[in-house]
Amino acid sequence: MTDTRPIGVFDSGVGGLTVVHELRRTLPGESLVYLADLRNFPYGPRPQAEVRALALAIIEHLVSLDTKLVVIACNTATAAALNLARERFDIPIVGVIAPGAQAAAAATETGRVAVLSTEGTRASNEYVHALKEANPGVSVLGIAAPELVGIVESGDADSVRAAAALHPLVDRALQWNADTLVLGCTHYPLLQPALRR
Ligand code: DGL
Repeated sequence: MTDTRPIGVFDSGVGGLTVVHELRRTLPGESLVYLADLRNFPYGPRPQAEVRALALAIIEHLVSLDTKLVVIACNTATAAALNLARERFDIPIVGVIAPGAQAAAAATETGRVAVLSTEGTRASNEYVHALKEANPGVSVLGIAAPELVGIVESGDADSVRAAAALHPLVDRALQWNADTLVLGCTHYPLLQPALRR
């Protein structure tokens, strides 16, 4: 018999909806419960221990709603809490850093990968670890871009303001000769139209 319980998904805000979009596309038969922790948004500038505590409390809540699996649809929370959450809870818990790192390690031809993320994710070095796990020869440039999170959350993802904020960040990655750019925050895929321009 199929397990009809929902999948729990959370983020600090709208960013995790980019993950929900992919879940709906790839697993159309599943029901989802989405939680945006807007009370504590943004997670990026908070100390790791604080983000870890927030994430564990949310997972506990999602488990109490009888979810069968939890997706931490936030890179900052994945970096801070995934390992501990897997030890603490019996249901499967999925993060977003390893899949992105594996895709980038497979995509790069020169081995130079730049990662745009929140300060919290960059400070954790989790992308560096995951990228080098996938390909030990890869070089990684971490760029913290906290201002992008607020731009997306306020609905300005496809705007002149967004393009102006992205410009120096992308320039930095290109000057470093990156051939692959990881959007290491679930808010950032919403910036793709501005990024392409
Ligand atoms: N969407 C979250 C992430 O992937 C973070 C945004 C925030 O700073 O709260 O890291």
